[in-house]
Amino acid sequence: MRSKDLLSITDLESHEIRLLLSDAAAMKAEGWQTTLSGKTLALLFEKPSLRTRVSFELAMKQLGGQAIYLSPAEVGLGKRESIADVARVLSRYVDALAVRTFAQSSLEELARRAEVPVINALSDAEHPCQALADLLTIYEHKGDYPGLKLVYIGDGNNVAVSLALAALSVGLSFTIAAPRGYELPAEVMRQAQALAVENDCVFDAMTNPEAAARGADIIYTDVWVSMGQEADAEARLKDFAGYQVNEQLVTLAKSDAIIMHPLPAHYGLEVAEGLLDIPQSVVFDQAENRLHVQKALLADMLGGLLLPWPM
Ligand code: CP
Ligand code: NVA
Repeated sequence: MRSKDLLSITDLESHEIRLLLSDAAAMKAEGWQTTLSGKTLALLFEKPSLRTRVSFELAMKQLGGQAIYLSPAEVGLGKRESIADVARVLSRYVDALAVRTFAQSSLEELARRAEVPVINALSDAEHPCQALADLLTIYEHKGDYPGLKLVYIGDGNNVAVSLALAALSVGLSFTIAAPRGYELPAEVMRQAQALAVENDCVFDAMTNPEAAARGADIIYTDVWVSMGQEADAEARLKDFAGYQVNEQLVTLAKSDAIIMHPLPAHYGLEVAEGLLDIPQSVVFDQAENRLHVQKALLADMLGGLLLPWPM
């Protein structure tokens, strides 16, 4: 790893992603050691969470350490106290920070000022821990990545960015169908194209969900209104009409395609009522795998007993 932090999925090189996933799979299958005894992780959250909070807290506990959760109301990041001071104070108490913020720039400033590693637990720009759990889930259901087609339908948001860059890093082809105005950011498109060339797979971006879904091995969607975008909800719901992942769309994919969603889901909007209950849906495996990949990540970043983590 090139830096002490995990702020973007691109902080991990392709071989590091694979090593982390194999550590996570091994921990899931065979168990783990309590290598983080005496270590503390602070969870600094500006937005709500179910999966990320519970899986990080549990990961620390299972590894012998502990976690301290700081809720949106308590933090006042940059309001009650400057980001730099929060970073410097917490660095005197804890061994790492997992941070859920609005602006990626807040996360970057925290990481710059903190003496301890900072992990992106979701920002407006990325959700790297989700992408790692998603790759582990795909591996479990499909065996490997090369030759597979992952199709993301919907908003080119934080989840889509990390997923696209993670997938293409391990040779998994990625197609996004997003309405105009909701595409992946231009810089991410450039990175995605470069990764596709480097890893001998395909990156494609289009507006037509049916064209994208044809031949998919994996169909993935996420909410149309992310946390912090509530004021634009009405316009977004209108703009995303026609982008619902439903039975009709899934019929265009391969017959053994799996359906993915990071959750929370909005049934009747981005995903049809009942679709996540069919056997092809692996959404609860994804949720479970958050725990396993974060355990591998923490053991690696804080314990150094698995793969080496150059800092
Ligand atoms: N998928 C995910 O990050 O869920 P939470 O927002 O509940 O943590
Ligand atoms: N894109 C969603 C993901 C939630 C896990 C959001 O940011 O709200």
